[in-house]
Amino acid sequence: MKEITVKVSRFDPACDPAPRLETYTVRVNDGARVLHVLHAIHDEIDPSLSYRYCCGSGQCGSCAVQVNGEPVLACMEEAHTGSVIEPLNLPVKKDLVVDLMPALQNLPPLQPKDAPCLPSKEQIDAIKPLRSCIECLACVSVCPAMTVTKFLGPTVMREEMRLALDPRNCDDRIATAVQEGLFTCTSCQACWKVCPKEIEIPGKAIEKLRALANRQGRTLPRHLEVAELIRKTGRSVPRTAESLLEKTGEVIEPYGPVKATVGFFVGCMYNLRQQQSALDAIEVLRRNGIRIIIPKEQVCCGSPLIRTGQLDYIDTLKKRNIETFASRGIDMVLTMCAGCGTTLKNDYRTPFTVIDINELLTKYGIEPPAKLPLRATYHDPCHLMRGQGIRREPRELLRQVVDLVEMPAICCGSGGGVRSGNPDEAAALGKRRGDEIRRTKADVVITSCPFCEFHISGHTDKPVRNIATILLEGYRKKDREAEMR
Ligand code: SF4
Ligand code: SF4
Ligand code: FES
Repeated sequence: MKEITVKVSRFDPACDPAPRLETYTVRVNDGARVLHVLHAIHDEIDPSLSYRYCCGSGQCGSCAVQVNGEPVLACMEEAHTGSVIEPLNLPVKKDLVVDLMPALQNLPPLQPKDAPCLPSKEQIDAIKPLRSCIECLACVSVCPAMTVTKFLGPTVMREEMRLALDPRNCDDRIATAVQEGLFTCTSCQACWKVCPKEIEIPGKAIEKLRALANRQGRTLPRHLEVAELIRKTGRSVPRTAESLLEKTGEVIEPYGPVKATVGFFVGCMYNLRQQQSALDAIEVLRRNGIRIIIPKEQVCCGSPLIRTGQLDYIDTLKKRNIETFASRGIDMVLTMCAGCGTTLKNDYRTPFTVIDINELLTKYGIEPPAKLPLRATYHDPCHLMRGQGIRREPRELLRQVVDLVEMPAICCGSGGGVRSGNPDEAAALGKRRGDEIRRTKADVVITSCPFCEFHISGHTDKPVRNIATILLEGYRKKDREAEMR
């Protein structure tokens, strides 16, 4: 047995003005789950504590709560002293019990065909990854698109895709999914990462539904324009000036001994819009012993096409990019765009390793920069944090150069084709991000994705900098201080 102290959110909307956290200490068995702690509080201290559970074994989904801000199943999550247990971010009925009905009533039913029909083995296998939902609504509680639009949410999209694959269903689920907000998803991946059944809703449902919508001519006009631009120019943003690929040499040597050689996959935004961030990164890499090869034939990674379900041209882009780097014998390709990185890592099969700049600098180590007198906050790009699992590395780098203050990791609203296709939604999510930034009282916002950098800049009065730019500022300060000595 061991003693555990937790804080639990208590709230009765009938009489409390706001939720409050109460502290409880209970004795539970070693390895006890959060649900056991709640049972102990209920049985030994306060029988009025309200919480849901049924199976106790991760099968029914009824016990979902937030522990330290993360949605989990209380019956599966090991209890730790100091944890804060709160309801899911949904309307609260009492304490940890939330109202599930508004979301569950939107789940579409199967409309049976008149003639009997059974799915084939292949069809059953295709449906399987979408079928294991236990309706816990963890995904719904974290979806940013639902907070600013009428989007019916990730598990409705999962069910729409399931029905679209089921030959027993007779109606057009694609048209319905579009009406339910299919194109409002920002591809943030939050739903997938919190799902206790690990259902890959963005890739296995939303992108697939968007691809079916494309075949029916339902792709948003702005997304069609982007696809046309990629087909014509190989790039997803229009050319307005000399590109970064034209400005730089093919091989850039480091200032000191070579620690590693990388091929640099530049990406459309750094090539044509956020060039200074990429030039700053090149300086940081040179200073840290990285030899950079920049093949000029590289093209768009195809992320804007994959995320919006426009797959016709994608194999051409993949083939060209893979050949471009592989033909030079490059075995490690560097990305500094979170979207390109997640696409090359997760949507390509590459004969080379793909490494994000934060991973690379952490792996080979950096010369310590001078500390800047800045209070900074870091915005986690969804496609870096969730798409590539990179959260620790940028923080470790940044703590060497600024005082870091954390803010909640929420989507800025620029991904999934939302900035181009649904600008009002992108602006509403950008404003939400801007409000969080203001609350940190930081002097500067740092991020590691050109889309986030560009979008957040429009929604905060604080300067938004790339992590490479901040590291370079640290090196420049260090050089100035050395000259003055
Ligand atoms: S990927 Fe993000 S925006 Fe899209 S459904 Fe999932 S949580 Fe919502
Ligand atoms: S998709 Fe996953 S997170 Fe969403 S309701 Fe189903 S089981 Fe829960
Ligand atoms: S009690 Fe059924 S999933 Fe937790």
